[in-house]
Amino acid sequence: MRSRRFVSREKRDLHRETLVSPLPELGLVAADGPLDPTPELVIDEGIVVRMDGRPAADFDVIDRFVVAHGLDLEVAAGAMALDDAELARMLVDIGVPRAELVRLARGLTPAKLARVIGLLDPVELMLALKKLRARRAPSNQAHVTNLKESPALLAADAAEAGRRGFAEIETTVGVARYAPLNAIALLVGSQTGRPGVMTQCAVEERRNLELAIRGLVTYAETLSVYGTEPVFVDGDDTPWSKAFLGAAYASRGVKVRFTSGTGSEALMGYAQGLSMLYLEARCLAAVRAAGSQGVQNGSISCVALVLSVPGGTRAILGENVLAAWLDLEVASGNDAIASHSEIRKTAKLMGQFLPGTDFVTSGYSVMPRRDNTFGGGNFDADDLDEWLTVQRDWQVDAGIEPVSEEEVLRVRERAAHAVQAVFQELGLPPVSNGEVAAATTGYDSSEMPDRDRAADVEAADELLARGVSGLDVALALDRRGFAEIAEAVLSMQRQRVSADYLQTSSVIDAKGLVHSAVNDPNVYSGPGTGYRLEGERWELLQSLPNVVDPAELLGNDSEGEAVVVEHEEAAKGDDPTEVVVAVGPAFADAIRKTINELNHRDVLESICAGIRDGGAVPRVVRVRRVADVAFIAHDGARISGSGIALGIQSKGTAVIHRADLEPLDNLELFGMSPLYTLESYRAMGRNAAGYALGHRVGPVPTELDNFARAKLIVRTTLLHARETQAVQPGAAAVELELAAVPVA
Ligand code: 5AD
Ligand code: CA
Repeated sequence: MRSRRFVSREKRDLHRETLVSPLPELGLVAADGPLDPTPELVIDEGIVVRMDGRPAADFDVIDRFVVAHGLDLEVAAGAMALDDAELARMLVDIGVPRAELVRLARGLTPAKLARVIGLLDPVELMLALKKLRARRAPSNQAHVTNLKESPALLAADAAEAGRRGFAEIETTVGVARYAPLNAIALLVGSQTGRPGVMTQCAVEERRNLELAIRGLVTYAETLSVYGTEPVFVDGDDTPWSKAFLGAAYASRGVKVRFTSGTGSEALMGYAQGLSMLYLEARCLAAVRAAGSQGVQNGSISCVALVLSVPGGTRAILGENVLAAWLDLEVASGNDAIASHSEIRKTAKLMGQFLPGTDFVTSGYSVMPRRDNTFGGGNFDADDLDEWLTVQRDWQVDAGIEPVSEEEVLRVRERAAHAVQAVFQELGLPPVSNGEVAAATTGYDSSEMPDRDRAADVEAADELLARGVSGLDVALALDRRGFAEIAEAVLSMQRQRVSADYLQTSSVIDAKGLVHSAVNDPNVYSGPGTGYRLEGERWELLQSLPNVVDPAELLGNDSEGEAVVVEHEEAAKGDDPTEVVVAVGPAFADAIRKTINELNHRDVLESICAGIRDGGAVPRVVRVRRVADVAFIAHDGARISGSGIALGIQSKGTAVIHRADLEPLDNLELFGMSPLYTLESYRAMGRNAAGYALGHRVGPVPTELDNFARAKLIVRTTLLHARETQAVQPGAAAVELELAAVPVA
């Protein structure tokens, strides 16, 4: 036997995914693994002799690095003595300042850090993250790539990303040799969208560093670290080599953050039976020890694996909190595809979206998913309006701004033209006008004209050999009349010299001013403090291009030729074949169409025709004292000769009533006004006649549209508001007559 409901659910996107029960031997356990060591730190005469279950003689490369460069032994004695629960409470206590927690973290071992974070529930983690984030205002990072490595499209997408407020933009390559071309397209595009946006082109480290030294990129987050020694060894690395590389970038004025994240050790086969969160605590301790200002974590490329085990989403939020606790800037994941299920993806996102992080995603795909060569974006161009709407719903700033279509087209076109000019000036294969046009208005790279890729990569090699730099790009722009973009590109070179943006959690604003944890720290200490989305920024984030002014939504119907003429007050009728059609206060007057856009004249004529079809006599009145359809109909019934009335509100909701029923009881209610046609109203009229004449009446068949409410509730509200505005308290009903149709 199968349940059709189970069968139906199995077809949902979610069920393409594999969920597994924990298997700690393989590291498939989110947190609190059975083999995770008990926190421990033994110091003998200033030397660490045991840490987290291991004597110094057995320390692996990560233990040694953390002990040598990370742990502050002066703090450690007191910090390690604090109870786990006590530390956990301090994380969420708004009375304990961030600075004190950061100080204590310097003295805690990885096992202790993981243990304490493991005590927090999801909402506590969010509060801790809100409190511990380094920079006051959250921001966001974008991914910009495309399958054809089209420079015009890269520049246009980077420009749109900059214009939408992303503080950092990351690209990569399909073919390694493209790196300098993609870096240039991103640099030019980003500075067209907004001066001050930082860019990177994630490639192999030697090339990456070279691009940085040339000033073609301004940040790097390619430095991966792992929680077990064998994974480091497999990658031909050690924490020392990573620290050295990080220093190499920083010494050339390039912002660096490391990358780590739960799940990588299990994925690479060397989890050593330890939980994901504990291993990430080891990574973060190493990142801190390496002197990095920040980290890209939140599982990153391993997110789907972590989400396969119980508590995965919570552990990922936990690792973000842990990084912030260690005073690291956090680019908090939400970049790689986490799930097939839109519900599950969004649910996971809320952990970072609501508290806000330094970079809510470590790569929001500004282009459609198929062009995302990072492996497809978790959220992409097609999701932008949802993202903006959710920000507006929660009054939360998650780092993306609404921009009109016109403005997006403007910056895209300008960026594509600018990169066209730069390619020509630098002697690179030409970017055609066709490419500029397609990059401006196209959906994705499938619409881009093909390029000679062999010529591109050859030119890229030659460009590197010539030693072309960011300054050359600025000069090329200036020669071709793109003075503002040239100035912005030059300004990014200047940033590398002043290097203020090497401070923790830096972003650069459009005026070139650095905002970091140093000059704009997050000092959240409860409601009313820290970052609040308010003032101009809140105005901006609520003004989506598709938002309409409710006052204008309905227009003004009351002008124009009269549809009905009002006569004397309506008295009780004595014709037993009479059916009263009782309309609402604004019907055919201040409002002239139903919510289904039917003209009130046509509606009235259809109802009356239906009443006549049924053998009764229609009589139209206006009820003026109420707007509620039950009372409109009941008032009508009480003056109807037959005791039967059909009441109708201006939006089209109708009721058939009988004088002897309670007002809120009725014979038939027609509440689905968006679905009614003139035929429906005629059928209602026929039924009303049937009741009046004492015939057997089957209810008018009605349809149901469960989305009508979500779709039309605003219009319903506005229509009803106008109806209630037309109410005249205590006024009697009046006889109504259709005005003569004006002759055109
Ligand atoms: N741990 C460590 N490195 C990771 N990366 C992605 N996910 C993780 C993780 N969980 C690396 C990629 C790439 C860089 C951008 O980040 O391998 O080198
Ligand atoms: Ca990233």
